Amino acid sequence: MDTIAAEGNKLWGGRFVGSIDPIMEMFNSSVSYDKRMWSADIRGSQAYVKGLEKAGLVNKSEMEEIVTGLDKIHGEWSQGTFVLSKDDEDIHTANERRLKELIGDTAGKLHTGRSRNDQVVTDMRLWLRDSCSTLCIHLIRLIRTMVDRAAIEVDILFPGYTHMQRAQPIRWSHWILSHAVALCRDAERLGEIKKRINVLPLGSGAIAGNPLGVDRELLRRELNFDSLSLNSMDATSERDFIAEFLFWASLCMTHLSKMSEDLIIYSTKEFSFVTLSDSYSTGSSLMPQKKNPDSLELIRSKAGRVFGRCSGFLMTLKGLPSTYNKDLQEDKEAMFDVCDTISAVLQVASGVISTLQINKEAMENALSPDMLATDIAYYLVKKGMPFRQAHGLSGKAVQLAESKGISVNKLSLEDLKSISSLFSSDVSKVWNYTNSVEQYTAAGGTAKSSVVAQVEQLRTWMKNHKA
Ligand code: ARG
Repeated sequence: MDTIAAEGNKLWGGRFVGSIDPIMEMFNSSVSYDKRMWSADIRGSQAYVKGLEKAGLVNKSEMEEIVTGLDKIHGEWSQGTFVLSKDDEDIHTANERRLKELIGDTAGKLHTGRSRNDQVVTDMRLWLRDSCSTLCIHLIRLIRTMVDRAAIEVDILFPGYTHMQRAQPIRWSHWILSHAVALCRDAERLGEIKKRINVLPLGSGAIAGNPLGVDRELLRRELNFDSLSLNSMDATSERDFIAEFLFWASLCMTHLSKMSEDLIIYSTKEFSFVTLSDSYSTGSSLMPQKKNPDSLELIRSKAGRVFGRCSGFLMTLKGLPSTYNKDLQEDKEAMFDVCDTISAVLQVASGVISTLQINKEAMENALSPDMLATDIAYYLVKKGMPFRQAHGLSGKAVQLAESKGISVNKLSLEDLKSISSLFSSDVSKVWNYTNSVEQYTAAGGTAKSSVVAQVEQLRTWMKNHKA
């Protein structure tokens, strides 16, 4: 049994006389993962000591000693020479322990009026703020890849599906952009979350605030936060920004999972619309003919993982009374894991989309005349017939073709005239897939002009969202 706490080596050890169970010590420790916030922790401490100096709690030379000591620790972390000690409970205690080793007792002044409660959440906000910027870069890169591809391949037509049934002919680019616009919303949402992440809790202490006159506005400026948290009890315990981030990631992953699912189906032999690059697929160890879309399957699967993190953390929050409780330590693994996962997913998705090969012939061959049934109805509508009636008569035409064992475009003009006298020779124009898609000129539709307009709009959007 170690007697660390009794010996007072723990930063919080003063009132403890018993020893801590080693299993409990491991259970309580977060340093194995929260050490990732070493840089944010140092930044926060360097700002805080400036606040202490302004409040007259440390003198200028003490402040400089602490800042320089922290710089040294920064150097150790960045060079990979920082040595964790067995007693380091978390990144906050580790950095402070090391500071004491480097500069002696002056280190003990750094934590004046501060608590790990306001410290940890400051570190997390700093860390997540930077990570969100990186994620935004990856996300916009993916959107750009998709928009560029959509611009180039705008003339390729293929079947659009609803209920997984052939519905109407659409442009392949229309499909690509349908996923790109969802990702644009994700990028906007991420920008909105960033505003709420960028609120400074430091100076809230453990629960009641700071009693020593620390200028929080100075801390805000030093750390480049947009605003100060309003209430110390809330500030030290609210993890809305983590929950929002986890939900943001869950929704973004849902979008990417949907896109992956489409592509997995399109890459089957049965569809053969797309072929994944070898860089993003694998073979089977047993069946030599196989090429598996592992990249897309993994993206799809990670959506479940990320959502699990989100719902798991909400469950943790749900049981808590107000202010800081140790349960909140669970926030970090969720944040790191989701950040790492979505970062990898976004980069792999960009790779998949930019290297994907499409099979124009297979796509166009999959278009079938039955998909033009709606167009027959629109033909009659344009001749003045109410849509409901036109829809019924178009169904009759499909039925008649079926009874004759031919496809609907092979019905003779006489056959069609037997259904409605409004049919005339210009009906032949209906049997053309390009004419079909070109009807959808309203904004957001699949006509070439509409798709090109979408590309332009997204390019403008990207200019305004340069990550
Ligand atoms: N490692 C802790 C966490 O991540 C730091 C805060 C500890 N605060 C406390 N009152 N024990 O939440």
